[in-house]
Amino acid sequence: MIDGNMIRHLWTHKTQDHPWLSDEELVIDRAEGVWVWTQTGKKLLDGFAGLAVVNVGHGRREIAEAIAEQTVKLAYYPTTRQFSNRPAAELAAKLASLTPGDLTYTMFAVSGSEANERSMQIARHYWLRKGRPNKHKVIALQGGYHGATAGTFAVCGLPHMVEPYAPLHVPGFAKVAPPHPFRDRGLGTDEEMVQRRAADLREAILREGPETVSAVILEPILSSGGIIVPPLGWLRAVRAICDELEVLMIADEVITGFGRTGRWFAVEHEGVVPDLMSVAKGITSGYVPLSASIARRHLADAFPDDSTQENVHPNTYAAHPVACAAGLANLRIMEQDHLVENAAAMGTRLLGGLRAAVGKRAIVGDVRGRGLRPRARRQARWRPRPQGVGPRRDRLRARQRAAPGPAAVHHRRRDRSARARRRREHRGAGAGDREVSGGSRH
Ligand SMILES: Cc1ncc(COP(=O)(O)O)c(C=O)c1O
Repeated sequence: MIDGNMIRHLWTHKTQDHPWLSDEELVIDRAEGVWVWTQTGKKLLDGFAGLAVVNVGHGRREIAEAIAEQTVKLAYYPTTRQFSNRPAAELAAKLASLTPGDLTYTMFAVSGSEANERSMQIARHYWLRKGRPNKHKVIALQGGYHGATAGTFAVCGLPHMVEPYAPLHVPGFAKVAPPHPFRDRGLGTDEEMVQRRAADLREAILREGPETVSAVILEPILSSGGIIVPPLGWLRAVRAICDELEVLMIADEVITGFGRTGRWFAVEHEGVVPDLMSVAKGITSGYVPLSASIARRHLADAFPDDSTQENVHPNTYAAHPVACAAGLANLRIMEQDHLVENAAAMGTRLLGGLRAAVGKRAIVGDVRGRGLRPRARRQARWRPRPQGVGPRRDRLRARQRAAPGPAAVHHRRRDRSARARRRREHRGAGAGDREVSGGSRH
């Protein structure tokens, strides 16, 4: 049993944001399928698949065996200086067959953040190769999240997250509003809203100067920004603007990739092929970290095969053989178990269930989703009770207060700070809508 003193060496302890459970009660010990167990034996439904990662479920022995076999055979060798390895080449070929259009060239990395770094770096090198060195800016969406590195924070549309790093950011990385069906439609149609937001994006590129803009990066469905599901037509509009103004389109499919929206990739809902696609999470279902930036043929073709000069710099663990073996086993399961089709069917059922359960409640303004990415959005007019408590939390708090000893004191202290934080948030919330389900944290 891990006790509080050990946990205190972990950085998670620096953010006490669980409203009622102690550190000890939040140690996850094991998992199977859709269930996880804490070290105290509590069984929890993993409704968010970790952080939208574990697409094939926990405890898949086939992946563990592929990892073990590859670890013994070749645990690591770099892919610098033209070296490669069998699982990496096989996985790149597999991805080329699964991704839409001619997205056929894969550069592997480790995290979703790095996948986006690589996508932006490939875009930059592409323009250098094309003799257009001024093209360096990347336009992103307000509410977009692309990772936790300095480069991806420059394109992050969540101001509270990037504020500490503002002095590090170069100017020109403009953010434009996405089409937000509930907040933004007004009395018009979805189509009009898409046209309005597309015009904003076009204007932003023109304002910056298309000759200086390298790429537009966007999530097909915004996740960390609060599950914003743009109407169909948005990605096609972005694609058209990028083509018109000679700007590359980067789709960040780190969360939406590998079946989460009921298609292998979310761009498929609109038949759009981005120039670069960043993927991670579901590529291995989290069994081993792995990510990738996948480029279209014409981008890869800009780099000659006989060049001895390095272009985009890979990191030490790029194309890690064990991670790629895990990825191959993971994708085999997804195909064998028809998990993408299942996500589409379950998504329809979940959305229907959510609509039936809460769609008519006064608190709920909008229920929508795509595949297993649903959300119910709170009505702007609705206000929570000042302390923002529900009956279950009341019961739990009452039980904690009744329990004697230091744990209860700890809980009470945490309750007070959580309450204070919630009060602050309510005060600052203004008239905007707030999320009631769907897990907006990445
Ligand atoms: C859309 C999106 N892009 C990028 C990232 C960053 O991925 P990672 O945390 O693996 O660096 C995330 C993380 O949740 C994400 O949701």
